[in-house]
Amino acid sequence: MFRLKGVKVKGILSVPELTIIRNTITCIVGESGSGKTSLLRLLNQLDSPDEGEIWFDQCPLSETDPIEWRRNVVMVPQAPIVFKGTVGDNLQIGLSFSDKPAASDERLMQALHLVCLEKGLAQDAENLSGGEKQRLSLARAVLMNPMALLLDEPTSALDEDTANKVFQRLTAFIRENGKTLVIITHSRSIADTYADLIIEIKDGMPQVDGRVYSERND
Ligand SMILES: Nc1ncnc2c1ncn2[C@@H]1O[C@H](COP(=O)(O)OP(=O)(O)OP(=O)(O)O)[C@@H](O)[C@H]1O
Ligand SMILES: [Mg+2]
Repeated sequence: MFRLKGVKVKGILSVPELTIIRNTITCIVGESGSGKTSLLRLLNQLDSPDEGEIWFDQCPLSETDPIEWRRNVVMVPQAPIVFKGTVGDNLQIGLSFSDKPAASDERLMQALHLVCLEKGLAQDAENLSGGEKQRLSLARAVLMNPMALLLDEPTSALDEDTANKVFQRLTAFIRENGKTLVIITHSRSIADTYADLIIEIKDGMPQVDGRVYSERND
């Protein structure tokens, strides 16, 4: 699915080669400042590499329309985005931004259940806690039904039990619906439990099993 070759971003990232396979769950781990968010932003076309190329299947990302791209590959940023209005308004807004039809209340409630957020649709979203706002952003992205989800530490504000429950439901949804998930987490145990592939970024270099990815394929 995603293939990166010779990708460099300022002094931040250097990726000789990396492949993320369709319909799998990939966890990205690494120290703070190692380049995790920078990698996700490249996959979402929020940034483009200074050198090298990224392909999706056979198509170079540089040749795709970024706005169209972000309807199919949805990123949830590290800091949750919450709009004025109710929980229901906040869920529908992702669909309306991407010109998709509004969802029924039943689908909205299903999305809230998936992220373990048992709140009413009429509740004011401003009053939610930090961890609840994170899950609201996640539910909004899930409702957009993209082929790939790029999640930047979506459970960082959650206790371990709730984080595990969200991961269980989310990864089941991804597998049942044939989607691709790339997710940044600080929790090695979550990565070990749920990932098909764990990429560790060290000083801007993605590694798999402690080796730079290209060496692994030699
Ligand atoms: N636009 C930018 N211009 C210059 N430096 C940047 C820019 N964006 C990020 N950086 C730097 O690149 C490095 C990697 O940042 P990035 O946000 O990718 O780290 P991260 O692994 O996501 O960290 P964290 O776990 O704290 O979120 C950091 O040193 C950061 O300061
Ligand atoms: Mg980050």
